[in-house]
Amino acid sequence: MKGNVRKIAIFGATSAMARGAARRFASEKAEFVLVARSAEKLDAVKADLLAFGAARAETVLCDLSDVAAQAAALDAVWNALGEVDAVLVAYGSLPDQKACEADTALAMREFANNGSSAIALCNEIGKRLEAQGRGCLAVISSVAADRGRESNYLYGSAKAALATFVDGMAVRLSKKGIRVIDVKPGLVSSPMTAHLKQGPLFASSDKVGAGIAKAIADGKTEGTLYLPGIWALIMFVVRHVPYFVFKKTRF
Ligand SMILES: NC(=O)c1ccc[n+]([C@@H]2O[C@H](COP(=O)([O-])OP(=O)(O)OC[C@H]3O[C@@H](n4cnc5c(N)ncnc54)[C@H](OP(=O)(O)O)[C@@H]3O)[C@@H](O)[C@H]2O)c1
Repeated sequence: MKGNVRKIAIFGATSAMARGAARRFASEKAEFVLVARSAEKLDAVKADLLAFGAARAETVLCDLSDVAAQAAALDAVWNALGEVDAVLVAYGSLPDQKACEADTALAMREFANNGSSAIALCNEIGKRLEAQGRGCLAVISSVAADRGRESNYLYGSAKAALATFVDGMAVRLSKKGIRVIDVKPGLVSSPMTAHLKQGPLFASSDKVGAGIAKAIADGKTEGTLYLPGIWALIMFVVRHVPYFVFKKTRF
């Protein structure tokens, strides 16, 4: 078993990256509780993981942007699994930046879906892992968190809020034997980006999912993790480009 990761909860389990990660544990006979908002897609993910060898896969329907509804999903997870070895928070949506500029209510809904609702969820997961005294939480934020770009700064700012929260949580819970990983993927081919032109910097969701699974299983990764690793270097440069140069780039 990968690093003794046997019992896994995935919030946003219908994500392509999450599926890539989950398959690695399924082939080692892991048990899953899969949380997402589409029953049809959840059933497909469940069938996929059982086909890959999962010992068990339960599904829980929840629109995770509804913070009040998260409590029931969390209870369902812990009731089904008892103690949880690893939790992956993978849900998110890529908003239309222009539409968000025009419609503040839409912008705030997107901010909630990508930022504040995920922070609420992670806060509750943190409490439960702390009560267990062990476990690993991996949360997918994004490289978009590292610098506001003209083309997607609403999404980027929500992911930045999430990433900063998760980074701080990682430091606090590290002292209690719990690992928290802020996963920052670069460009990944998935349903979320299917409408974008796929250039050489795009990685497959399966490859990035495998990287997430490896980090969860290795028993030592915590804090920020860029995937693929080249994005650590790319974003170091992007963060340090002076504003007067940055505003002329098309990045
Ligand atoms: N693809 C990229 O280039 C990229 C880069 C950096 C970070 N990310 C982040 O990586 C994560 C996974 O994305 P992905 O690339 O795997 O794309 P994806 O396959 O489109 O996955 C996103 C998933 O989030 C789910 N979701 C969205 N809002 C939800 C809600 N309120 N409640 C429950 N589920 C919800 C979607 O469910 P439905 O299908 O039901 O809508 C979908 O399954 C996201 O957090 C994304 O922001 C992606």
